Amino acid sequence: MRANAMELIEQVGLLPLVNVSDPSKAAPIARALSEGGIPVVEVTLRDKSALESLANVRKEQPETLVGAGTVKSPEQAARAIEAGAEFIVSPGLNPSTVKYCQENGVAIIPGVSTASDLELGTSLGLRTFKFFPADVSGGLPAINALRGPFGDVRFVPTGGISFENMTPYAESGAVFAIGGSFLTPKGAVESNDWAAIKRTAERAVEASLGFAMGHVGINCESVEEAKETANWFDERFGLKPREIDISFFAGKAVEAMKKPSFGRCGHIGIACNSITRALYQLERKGLKFRFFKKNPEGKIIAAYLEEEVGGFAVHLCGK
Ligand code: 3PG
Repeated sequence: MRANAMELIEQVGLLPLVNVSDPSKAAPIARALSEGGIPVVEVTLRDKSALESLANVRKEQPETLVGAGTVKSPEQAARAIEAGAEFIVSPGLNPSTVKYCQENGVAIIPGVSTASDLELGTSLGLRTFKFFPADVSGGLPAINALRGPFGDVRFVPTGGISFENMTPYAESGAVFAIGGSFLTPKGAVESNDWAAIKRTAERAVEASLGFAMGHVGINCESVEEAKETANWFDERFGLKPREIDISFFAGKAVEAMKKPSFGRCGHIGIACNSITRALYQLERKGLKFRFFKKNPEGKIIAAYLEEEVGGFAVHLCGK
């Protein structure tokens, strides 16, 4: 049993549904998704052969974290765990299923769509919930409204999510991972087009990361020079200065460092939707990081690549 199922789901940030009637397709789908950057699947218990599909993924594609979805009772959870499920997803919140999983040390992501569901779920000690059916239950505005009274919970929106509407979810810190069958398109599954599944995964990973130009960092020699540099951009372009511990920002575009920092010429901040997800994908590609800046809560807010380009250090940052 992997101890870190929830950690991996958060790092990947995408939770593809596998819903097949031919169990021999499950492992090739999981493999294609993994090659595309998504080594996690939820096999839905909707077909009589679903447990066999799940067991096949566990056996033939061990790199992939496999969970069971559409689990509606403790008995179903028990059978799924026996077949190899490393986490459980349920459409709603059944306290007996939750307790069964907790007693057996298996992560569970139960479905919620209301404040009452969340009161019950948080009273059971849970902090991560499937938000289902996401689209028709109000989407991200509903998630944000629920985060008012339940500030420390995060969601796996699922149901009605597609490439067309996933971006706001990917940009939201309230979203733990995005779930859906759009990551395993029916046509590709029917025609055994594993290359298309891999491309779908790559496209989803790219959209979930949302890399974009963040800012340019200028290495100044002193606090005064950094302040003057930020003011220079304000006077000319109206980019308002903002002081933080190590620098002055001019808008979001320029960061004037209070003393020389990484990079002979300065640095480039590459913004992304989630540093957790970006680090996972880039480290998976073999990239190395040399320095992490954390906030007082211990959360990484900047991650510097080991390598530099054109005299510039490069770091990941939030948007
Ligand atoms: C689920 O079981 O989580 C949903 O049926 C998935 O919905 P989707 O097919 O719209 O992604």
